[in-house]
Amino acid sequence: MSNKQARPVQAERIPLKARKVSFAWEDTPLHWVPGDPFTTHTINVLHLLLPAGERWFVHVYKQALPLIKDERLREDVIGFIGQEAMHSQAHDEVLPHLREQGLDPTPYTAQVDWFFEKLLGDRTLPPGRVRRWWLLERIALIAAIEHYTAFLGDWVLNAAELDRRGADPTMLDLLRWHGAEEVEHRSVAFDLFVHVDGDYRRRVRTWALAFGALMFLWQRGARFFMEHDPTLVDGKASFREFYMSGRRGTLPATGALLKSIPRYLSRAYHPSQEGSTAQAVAYLASSPAALAAEKAEHDA
Ligand SMILES: [Fe+2]
Ligand SMILES: [Fe+2]
Repeated sequence: MSNKQARPVQAERIPLKARKVSFAWEDTPLHWVPGDPFTTHTINVLHLLLPAGERWFVHVYKQALPLIKDERLREDVIGFIGQEAMHSQAHDEVLPHLREQGLDPTPYTAQVDWFFEKLLGDRTLPPGRVRRWWLLERIALIAAIEHYTAFLGDWVLNAAELDRRGADPTMLDLLRWHGAEEVEHRSVAFDLFVHVDGDYRRRVRTWALAFGALMFLWQRGARFFMEHDPTLVDGKASFREFYMSGRRGTLPATGALLKSIPRYLSRAYHPSQEGSTAQAVAYLASSPAALAAEKAEHDA
């Protein structure tokens, strides 16, 4: 095991702001990656997980604010909270559109809500050590999840195959606006975890939990959509199809996903070593939704 210390890349840090975006979904087809329901639905799982997941981030981080003794980190965490609240809302707004197209995700989102609100909720804990332990555990879990949101953000910013296949521009903009902000704020959750605790065993333990839960929820979500898609007869989701889509470049490659595991578990890991802030900022400077949000803010 390496004894190297994490080395943040300072140039990758920028002040964070929430962009109040909105999207019009009327023209987005059911299979927004044309002819590829599996890719469409695998990515659609984000709309099911993120509204509850990111609301939960915000809920936990509001409790974490009093533990922060560093002004710069506090500013980052407040910026992070603003961005995640907006992400949660933007994905939530896709759900009525899915319902109109015959895909009612309520049975699945009810499970996801239970997972974040009950299983990972506050519990009725007395003030003191146990309550603090549970808060630290959840702060570490968020750091592990954010390793994957940054991984996915970096992936979607570079997923040229989706453009080549004529993916719906509105959905691509939602994914890339969100992905770019994930890359922008990719260090915040890890910095907060290190600031309040940073225990290596906790990092490993919560990574295993986060990775296992994400894989479990994701494959269930993809299966749910494939089985309930009104245009598919006997729709199925399989690992083989995921692997093949990764090779084609319409989903993340399995190899890249596996390689990201030891990076997070390395003692020298810092999120600023992954992805590119410059690329994220460049996308946000050209994103139709981000530009419209900026104009609306300017006009107000
Ligand atoms: Fe997010
Ligand atoms: Fe995030």
